[in-house]
Amino acid sequence: MSARYQVTGSTAVEISASIESGIRTGALPADAALPAVRTLAVDLAVSPATVARAYQDLRQRGLVATAGRHGTRVRARPTVTVGRSALRPPPAPGTRDLSAGEPDATLLPQLGPHLAALAAAKTPTIGYADAGTLPDLADTARRRLAADGVPVGEVTLTGGALDGIERVLDAHLRHGDPVAVEDPGWANLLDLVAALGLRPIGVPVDDDGPTEAGVRAALAAGARALIVTSRAQNPTGAAVSADRARALRTLLADRPDLLLVEDDHAAELARVPLHPLVGATGSWAFVRSVSKPYGPDLRLAVLTGDDTTVARVAGRSRVGAGWVSTVLQRLVLSLWRDPGTTDLVDRAGADYERRRNALLSALAAHGLTGHGRSGINVWLPVPDETAAVTALRDAGWSLAPGAPFRLAAPPAVRVTVSTLTDADIAPLAAAIASALHPSPRTGLTA
Ligand SMILES: Cc1ncc(COP(=O)(O)O)c(C=O)c1O
Repeated sequence: MSARYQVTGSTAVEISASIESGIRTGALPADAALPAVRTLAVDLAVSPATVARAYQDLRQRGLVATAGRHGTRVRARPTVTVGRSALRPPPAPGTRDLSAGEPDATLLPQLGPHLAALAAAKTPTIGYADAGTLPDLADTARRRLAADGVPVGEVTLTGGALDGIERVLDAHLRHGDPVAVEDPGWANLLDLVAALGLRPIGVPVDDDGPTEAGVRAALAAGARALIVTSRAQNPTGAAVSADRARALRTLLADRPDLLLVEDDHAAELARVPLHPLVGATGSWAFVRSVSKPYGPDLRLAVLTGDDTTVARVAGRSRVGAGWVSTVLQRLVLSLWRDPGTTDLVDRAGADYERRRNALLSALAAHGLTGHGRSGINVWLPVPDETAAVTALRDAGWSLAPGAPFRLAAPPAVRVTVSTLTDADIAPLAAAIASALHPSPRTGLTA
């Protein structure tokens, strides 16, 4: 632990507050080791049980993690950071930022004309009494989901995919419940699972989605829920194939009690067919966000599922946030109905596909195997993430280290391809190749 930070307190609440404050202010940085329970108990003249309770509280709120003999450490992205930018290191000045996982802003629809049309339409003011999901939006969403083979039930809305996933997990699970998650998987989801005090069980992922053996092992280990990304899996770009879907549905049919959550965040951008798993279990939810095709700031996702799950999510939202603003709903509906926007989203999907494939081919020409069947990222296994990220930063490219996306998966880096130009591909692939296989230094003596 940082020698500068002195934990204080004589009760579990005070000790956990002192550590939380250290994490919030940065005095206890990511990965800092906390003292062993007994050591801190002696230092603070309290019982080991008091310190253990403080650590448990911090663990359940996603601030620290305990990993066997490695002891208790501050999580890489603890849940008391101030802003989302704190969740990833800023790109080094002067480098091209390929670390963000963001869509290309120039390929997102311009909202101005849609907002202007909505303003001119003089729609009635919505008050508390009439608020909720607009029937038009629900019908359109249902049609779009059904066209992709999703077994659509009732539809409700959430403030994005992650909000939807959180509400579904909250509706079914309790602190400490084991949850099967993709490994590697979306870092924000891993953070959410930690923040909810759930226990992640990593399921390996290949290009066709979560592996059958991995899901089988997670079920055997007692997973109460499974969260799967349908397409454009973040970070690997995996997409659940028809064969994998068939195999997983057969496996899941034996576990009707399992909660299955499917995240189709790439939606209209994916450019590979959807092979949904939902419906194979009794409790399920399918969440489709508008963030990637239409803009992350829209904060709207459509959620369907079995009747109980949708009713729980909608009922709980009603006594909390209330509803997703109908202003936002009208905007999304306007985007969905606009043929120009549909064309733009198609073009964005095609561009991302071209950029991804170009980078994968250029890497292959250097003998490197990356992954990226769909979406905006390429995932490239590397022997040493820090060395790779540092060497590439020195060559002018900021990539994301794989660590926040991994539980037990081997090291890798994530390259977001959304803003790459044709001219970028060859120099980027060459820079990656030389970062991973530095040529022997000649003519120098130690
Ligand atoms: C796997 C995954 N799900 C969902 C999202 C988007 O979520 P939201 O709708 O909360 O913006 C992302 C964004 O990167 C993602 O990678």
